[in-house]
Amino acid sequence: ENLPLVLGVESTCDETGVALVRGHELLVDVTASSMDQHARYGGIIPEIASRAHLESFLPTLESALEKAGVELSEVDAIACSAGPGLIGSLTVGNCAAKSLASALGKPLYGLNHVVGHLAVDQLVHGEFPERFVGLVVSGGHSNLLLVNDIATDIVELGGTLDDAAGEAFDKVGRLLGLPYPGGPHVDRLSQQGNPEAIKFPRGLSRPKDLKEHPYDFSFSGLKTAVARYIETLQKQGEELPVEDICAAFSEAVNDSLTSKAIAACQAHDVKTIVIGGGFSANSRLRSLLDERASAAGIEVRMPPLKYCTDNGAQIAALGSNLVAAGLAPSDWDFAPDSSMP
Ligand code: KG4
Ligand code: ZN
Repeated sequence: ENLPLVLGVESTCDETGVALVRGHELLVDVTASSMDQHARYGGIIPEIASRAHLESFLPTLESALEKAGVELSEVDAIACSAGPGLIGSLTVGNCAAKSLASALGKPLYGLNHVVGHLAVDQLVHGEFPERFVGLVVSGGHSNLLLVNDIATDIVELGGTLDDAAGEAFDKVGRLLGLPYPGGPHVDRLSQQGNPEAIKFPRGLSRPKDLKEHPYDFSFSGLKTAVARYIETLQKQGEELPVEDICAAFSEAVNDSLTSKAIAACQAHDVKTIVIGGGFSANSRLRSLLDERASAAGIEVRMPPLKYCTDNGAQIAALGSNLVAAGLAPSDWDFAPDSSMP
């Protein structure tokens, strides 16, 4: 009851999120999305996303306060995602959060959005173990993190050198003529295909790559291999085995993600993996990770899907960790950083 009440503001991409968290308890989480406005362009248009944040922020804030039955004056601290993300979207959310904090005279924390994808799991599954490996996968990120302390000590083990996993799925979806975003469609079709039917390459899996990039990912070579495979069949006038292409492609992506996540745990003597990001909806990621983690004696923690896509709860949850750790708020002149590590 008397733990600090933290208001979280999310605005890295196309979701405007506002949430309230006390300790690890989520009071409310409201999200407005501009996804529908981008679909016809086949990708996020930053200018449209920024304007949508501007229009959505106050209604989203008001709806969150009303649903939680909370007055603004009861808020003890404000947290916003300060990066990585689209600079226009971040700027709108950060200005809104700064204005609120300054008007209310409350501390403001500018936070890392990717870390928030992990922090949100505490709202559902409680306190984190002492150390864990975080795997954050979405349309914008594919990161492996060693989390010694969610508020103070996070080591980036690796990330994608080119496309994020969700982005690669979306690109393959486009090659196959599926609607945007293609990720969920490719996933659905993959479940009816044979992953062994086509042998697609695994990025950064040769011995030399494993030495130099043990925890990095690369999906652009795989995407090119899929494009060539499709072109060749089309030139020959053959019908595309769409389900098999999706299954073999999905297997290649998830083989890389899961094998490197498990290897990171083993190398650092960690017994828990926490997953975050919209790609954690992927059915093969879930099944392959469960299989490999349980074989290795590793526990997998995965927030429910509604907390895996971008939301204010992830930022409020992380803010709550910083407040609980007694960390100083951000300086008032902090700027959003679109390429924050
Ligand atoms: O976290 P998110 O909602 O937005 C950000 O990118 O931050 O993630 C969306 C991404 C998109 O690329 C989408 O196609 C992909 O995650 N995605 C999936 C699945 N569900 C969403 N990719 C593969 N399989 C899925 N089931
Ligand atoms: Zn995200």
